[in-house]
Amino acid sequence: MIEGMFSYRHAFHAGNHADVLKHVMLVQLLRHLAAKDTPFWVIDTHAGAGLYSLEGEWAAKRGEFVDGIGRLWSRADAPVPVAQYLETVRAANPDGALRHYPGSPFIALAHLRADDRLRLFEMHPTESRVLAGNVAEAGREAARRTRMQAGDGFDGLKALLPPPPRRALVLIDPSYEDKRDYARVVATLRDALVRFATGCYAIWYPQVQRREPAEMVRRLTRMPGLRWLHATLTVRTPSPDGLGLHGSGVFIVNPPWTLQPALRDALPWLADALAQDAAAGWSIDASGEASPQSPGKPGAARPRRIQFRPR
Ligand SMILES: C[S@@+](CC[C@H](N)C(=O)[O-])C[C@H]1O[C@@H](n2cnc3c(N)ncnc32)[C@H](O)[C@@H]1O
Repeated sequence: MIEGMFSYRHAFHAGNHADVLKHVMLVQLLRHLAAKDTPFWVIDTHAGAGLYSLEGEWAAKRGEFVDGIGRLWSRADAPVPVAQYLETVRAANPDGALRHYPGSPFIALAHLRADDRLRLFEMHPTESRVLAGNVAEAGREAARRTRMQAGDGFDGLKALLPPPPRRALVLIDPSYEDKRDYARVVATLRDALVRFATGCYAIWYPQVQRREPAEMVRRLTRMPGLRWLHATLTVRTPSPDGLGLHGSGVFIVNPPWTLQPALRDALPWLADALAQDAAAGWSIDASGEASPQSPGKPGAARPRRIQFRPR
């Protein structure tokens, strides 16, 4: 069944393995930006609802978080980058039980200082209403730093670039229900780089059994002069019926130098912690680095398998 544009509710997926990868990376990017005194912006083109109840009927229906954040929640042995992500999720759950999951807008808010700004786009009418309510409830300071538009983030991004402080992280995190999203990501990035070449861009995509994701990554890696890092986390064998998400990837343009070492710490541990079968693995690739499988051709490394121990 092809789902309609507005049937997507991130609450089904909040806190799943794909959110874990995306948000571990997001926390690292935010920490890097916040390490300098100068202000920065975070622009989230596909914001979602911002905060999710893991006890609600949306989450309970599929319970994807159980095999995502649920597996990490009580682990005390996480490597530093994962521990820093867990700290952010813990801050959204002050009574110590895992009840809420912060989406990217709330993870960003947790790292913003007084002069930093958050710009959000969310096109789904219900999600944008919930997001606006969540931001309002987060208090005056959060609301002061945030502007939200209930509209198309691909188009809306243009008007915000370059952002006044000339330091920014742009998260491009579509649901890819509409397969034209893959091409829109590439076109949006191309346009954005003309307006703001030095920005850091983080593009999330799903590992699904269709050609578009790999094609999109190929197109991104071939953009002339681009400095990038590409990380993937696979949790299981693709399903025989071709449905579902067996992993995900994040493609970062202009990655900070701190990101690759952090991911080398985080990904092997995450692949082990989130593995659902022996196909679990991870990969890190970067521009200018030849991958072992295809010398001279960055971007083609296959995920490293981990030693799977059935639980
Ligand atoms: C994967 S979810 C976002 C999750 C969020 N970034 C996070 O990490 O917590 C994608 C969201 O994009 C919204 N959406 C879909 N197409 C959009 C568009 N063209 N512009 C803005 N939002 C869109 C969907 O309604 C959905 O809430």
